[in-house]
Amino acid sequence: MAEQGLKPDLSKQLLDWYDAHARVLPWREKQGVPPDPYKVWLSEIMLQQTTVAAVKDYYLKFVSFWPRVEDLAAADPEDIMKAWAGLGYYARARNLLACAKAVAAAGGKFPSSLEGLQALPSIGPYTSGAIGAIAFDLPVAAVDGNVERVISRYYAIETPLPASKPEIRDKAQALVPAQRAGDFAQAMMDLGATICTPKSPDCKTCPWTEHCLGRAKGLAASLPLKAKKVKVPTRYGHVFWIENAEGDVLVRKRPAKGLLGGMTEFPSSDWGVQTEFVAPFRANWRKMPRLVEHTFTHFHLQLAVWRAVAPTAVLDGRFVSRQSLHEEALPSVMRKVAVVAFHHDPHPEVPRKRPRRVG
Ligand code: ADE
Repeated sequence: MAEQGLKPDLSKQLLDWYDAHARVLPWREKQGVPPDPYKVWLSEIMLQQTTVAAVKDYYLKFVSFWPRVEDLAAADPEDIMKAWAGLGYYARARNLLACAKAVAAAGGKFPSSLEGLQALPSIGPYTSGAIGAIAFDLPVAAVDGNVERVISRYYAIETPLPASKPEIRDKAQALVPAQRAGDFAQAMMDLGATICTPKSPDCKTCPWTEHCLGRAKGLAASLPLKAKKVKVPTRYGHVFWIENAEGDVLVRKRPAKGLLGGMTEFPSSDWGVQTEFVAPFRANWRKMPRLVEHTFTHFHLQLAVWRAVAPTAVLDGRFVSRQSLHEEALPSVMRKVAVVAFHHDPHPEVPRKRPRRVG
């Protein structure tokens, strides 16, 4: 088994590896270029609960629309929601604006201390650590899921998450070097994302492989252990795809507060226990053969999609052309509804299979 008594210089090993293998990411400056705290903050908020691949295009769109924090602070909230649509966890987009306004009101400079960062809307311990380290080189750890995995494995921590969090935090913090804390934070992220991956860690290319206890014990791929998740409940609903004679679709805005607050939606029943379909008005309603499934943080949702043509605006909302739907702040669940409705669309602009000839 590997001996951990003689401490190798883990941070140096990791930084050397990072110098050779750092991922090229749009929010990362080239070596020697000082990071822009606004861009670091923006990318970190976007990366919460989302993958690097999903964030890249959104990040580029945001910095091209709003290159400085003052630009974002002055933006129309509706435009921000539209630009965010599809990235999920929409409270983040609302908090983004609140935070940009707070920073702009204080002169446009992000605070450079952990306390100052944490006093801003929606910046918790992880995000303040990441911004503090990356933007200001504060010697602090930024412990996200990737880092939890790397540390649990290196020290073979067998206590399941979340109980192991304090121990992981302490161990991660103890590794942070006095110099290049920002590079170290990003190196940990890269190690977790590219080598110490969840299912099949590539231990032979890992800069820490020699002294990794998890590898030595044959536990690497099975750590970290996680306490059993409570199963989220399923809610059910019926969603209405309503077209007018021109083929435009009825949408409406959700209430500002609560789930998907302020986003655009297709009208629907309440989401709750499974209920019979109740038509919101008399029409020739057709049920689409596919259901929409979507998982939110606290519940799973199953929606039946119903289509009808409405003579006039029968429900509150507005008709928009199908072509302009992508400009709406449609959350992912509603995009799925559009896909199901489009897919079974008898409208001539959507290619359909030719009816088979009989005889
Ligand atoms: N995940 C969270 N923050 C990140 C960053 N700055 N770079 C890469 N992955 C990340």
